[in-house]
Amino acid sequence: MARDGAVFVCQSCGAVHPKWSGRCDACGAWNTLVEEAQGGPPGAMAPTKASKARGLVFETLEAHTPDPPRIATGSAEFDRVCGGGVVPGSAILLAGDPGVGKSTLLLQVCAQAALGGAKVAYVSGEEAVEQIRSRAARMGLSQAPVKLAAETSLRDIVDSLKREPVDLLIVDSIQTLWSDALEAGPGSVAQVRACAGELVRLAKKRRIAVILVGHVTKDGQIAGPRVVEHMVDAVLSFEGERGYPFRILRAAKNRFGATDEIGVFEMGDSGLREVANPSALFLGEGGERAAGAAVFAGIEGSRPVLVEFQALVAPSAYGTPRRAVVGWDTGRLAMVLAVLEARCGLGFGARDVYLNVAGGLRVNEPAADLAAAAALASSALDVPLPQGCVVFGEISLSGEVRAVSRMESRMKEAAKLGFDRALGPSAAKEGAPFPVATVQKLADAVARIGDENWKG
Ligand code: TYD
Ligand code: MG
Repeated sequence: MARDGAVFVCQSCGAVHPKWSGRCDACGAWNTLVEEAQGGPPGAMAPTKASKARGLVFETLEAHTPDPPRIATGSAEFDRVCGGGVVPGSAILLAGDPGVGKSTLLLQVCAQAALGGAKVAYVSGEEAVEQIRSRAARMGLSQAPVKLAAETSLRDIVDSLKREPVDLLIVDSIQTLWSDALEAGPGSVAQVRACAGELVRLAKKRRIAVILVGHVTKDGQIAGPRVVEHMVDAVLSFEGERGYPFRILRAAKNRFGATDEIGVFEMGDSGLREVANPSALFLGEGGERAAGAAVFAGIEGSRPVLVEFQALVAPSAYGTPRRAVVGWDTGRLAMVLAVLEARCGLGFGARDVYLNVAGGLRVNEPAADLAAAAALASSALDVPLPQGCVVFGEISLSGEVRAVSRMESRMKEAAKLGFDRALGPSAAKEGAPFPVATVQKLADAVARIGDENWKG
């Protein structure tokens, strides 16, 4: 039984339980409940002494003061993902796998912001000052007037900021901070929640933009506490496939901008280079088209991006055939395979299916259905798609090919990059810069792909 006023908090999901149990009801994790004094952590809303209520002063929706200007970080890609620069007084969580380049990105962003005139502090609990200096030297940013500190004590950080005027504060990482008001160790849910809560309050109160780095666990969650995601104004994730130089910054939540915008970077010897025009980045090697490849004309955020889908359908050596997919959704692959089997007469029962999105990009658009299906059909039939053809369209369970958003901009971008035909839904004909082979049903598309004489 809990001591008076104590509760049990799951260290995995942050759910609060009145009594101890071996398994958390909320997330199902075992042995994660830890006793905490209720209202103790500074991050939680502590019940205050009975105080007199004050009447609310209601406001109008119309603003009387214009929004303060956003802080331009000097990185166009980073600013765009934030919704046009960093909002003063906002809190941002930057999440990503260890080693993906979070510290590199933020050092670059804050150094450029500092060169642009913003007052910037970079506090690292992960690296020594010397390490950060040598990284800055390698990236040619040593001259930037960044206030640098290696510190993990929340109290010291908050106290220093009372004296230092700062516009932008970077904390790398939230899991290394600790507050002496709690007994729990750094990285525990209680500590992370308390420290993040305190920093978010500091951000609001002193109009400091705070960027917190958060590590991601193996299963893709921001380590331990999802609670931090709810506290901050924006959650950005920094992604990249191992072995590829490309890194993608995405907004998973953003109170000040759209969430479908991406920023593309390339990791090199002297830091991250911005890729302003990524449309041709994710195409496979040029040259003769092989069976199993289809170029998808996609949209990432506000920009068209061309991506190659690669499929391999091969006889299976095992009783249960394999389905492996990189860069696309497994559920979506299962659906497209089922439609190809049920409506188009292609059999995948005894065959392994591999699907890969080239370049390390992760595609989330339903518009990619037809491109994936075309790659799969092309591999299954062993017929390459015509040279210079882009594909887009959503597939329904009944096997219909549906129109998707912004078809004209998809094709215009493709035309710019030298593509000269498309395979897509009927509505794609309108405004197309080149001939479109329109299909109403997926079976029509498969028939076209199987027809060696198809010229678009
Ligand atoms: P880092 O920013 O330390 O990752 P994180 O903070 O997300 O853990 O980046 C680590 C990787 O980036 C490391 O493997 C080396 C690579 N890197 C470069 O390739 N070039 C560079 O200029 C820098 C600074 C890092
Ligand atoms: Mg780091």
